Amino acid sequence: MSERSAAARYESMPNDLEPYWMGFTPNRSFKKNPRLLVSAEGMHYTTVDGRKIIDGTAGLWCVNAGHGRKEITEAVSAQVGRMEYAPAFQMGHPAAFELAARLVQLMPGDLDHVFFTNSGSESVDTALKIALAYHRARGEGTRTRLIGRERGYHGVGFGGISVGGMVANRKFFGAMLPGVDHLPHTYDRSKMGHSKGQPEWGAHLADDLERLVALHDASNIAAVIVEPVACSTGVLVPPKGYLEKLRAICDKHGILLIFDEVITGFGRLGATFAVDYFGVQPDLVTVAKGLTNGAIPMGAVFARKKVYDAFMQGPENAIELFHGYTYSGHPVACAAGHAVLDVYKKDGLFERAKELSPYWEQAIHSLKGARNVIDTRNLGLIGAIELEPLKDKPTARAFDVFLRCYDKGVLIRTTGDIIALSPPLIVEKSHIDRIVETIDTSLKEAA
Ligand SMILES: Cc1ncc(COP(=O)(O)O)c(C=O)c1O
Repeated sequence: MSERSAAARYESMPNDLEPYWMGFTPNRSFKKNPRLLVSAEGMHYTTVDGRKIIDGTAGLWCVNAGHGRKEITEAVSAQVGRMEYAPAFQMGHPAAFELAARLVQLMPGDLDHVFFTNSGSESVDTALKIALAYHRARGEGTRTRLIGRERGYHGVGFGGISVGGMVANRKFFGAMLPGVDHLPHTYDRSKMGHSKGQPEWGAHLADDLERLVALHDASNIAAVIVEPVACSTGVLVPPKGYLEKLRAICDKHGILLIFDEVITGFGRLGATFAVDYFGVQPDLVTVAKGLTNGAIPMGAVFARKKVYDAFMQGPENAIELFHGYTYSGHPVACAAGHAVLDVYKKDGLFERAKELSPYWEQAIHSLKGARNVIDTRNLGLIGAIELEPLKDKPTARAFDVFLRCYDKGVLIRTTGDIIALSPPLIVEKSHIDRIVETIDTSLKEAA
């Protein structure tokens, strides 16, 4: 096979789609009908066949500042030229320390230390390991049990799938971590269907944590991990008072509370973090995605002072935490992170998301009553439209709508029979109208 030109590699249909084994994708049908994107600017992607597509999903919930930001491009390319890599262990570079210092300034309370990773999955596994090691460092090494939640998504590492609650992500992979329990998820359509923002019903579901404490004893439980808003299983907005209750029960029993803010971090709710939005202070917070606007992979874990301090004991020349990645605090990712934080601030994007939220809410709920829609829900710039599944064909109806929207120039995301939306925070009202109209039309045409 002849070598392709450099431009062709990036801009035209590949000769051979077979060797790339894609994740979370039906490979065979995708390769028969591939959907390839070749460039992006502002609110739009351009497809390999030259069509412009509105991005209703910020890529995969990550491109919060919109596409093609020159400030990020310049910072990244300058850093590749200056120094593409520095060892992450026993050595450092200024930009990583500077970024950690900027990040803790953004985070309220005493979540004042940052451990760098390369993805949301790594952030989750890092947070779980820190929680276990924290208790051990304090002489409470029996606290080994981890508690997640049904319908939770915490990435794809063994820690993340163990505490996660999506059956397809778990059932193929054996026994996973031992000593894991799950709280019930917080969604009940009969009690909260078509809620605008946080549902009134459901705070009591947090009490299930007391049941698990009664079963195992608190002296065996290390941490509880939840997404403040469970996004990947279809936008399950926490009932009013639920997160506050979880916090109180964790405090009562000395259990660490971890918020997985891989999606909710960096403005998605119209506040810097869900920690700000809900006014609930966890002990560890995981982030990724919006940290670098998706431009370069990067994740991070915020830890409260008491957690960090528990490790800073013993001889000063001893390593305190036997954990880290070759690319922790990668110089190029740090450059992207700095540029992205500048953009968020300069453009006031978190405030913008807050201002647009009521319009977004109204737009999402305008689909109540649309064909086959059984629920609509929203928070910040996140929205979900749940469809009645086709008989004996779960997911097929939503996927049909996805394909129709794509053909009409709108990128949406579906999970099960739920359409999940999360546009870049630069979205204009006219884009919101277009996204909703296109979904409405597609619903009318779909099976
Ligand atoms: C809440 C949450 N945690 C973790 C992850 C995993 O992130 P990544 O795909 O970067 O590993 C995701 C990804 O969507 C997520 O939504």
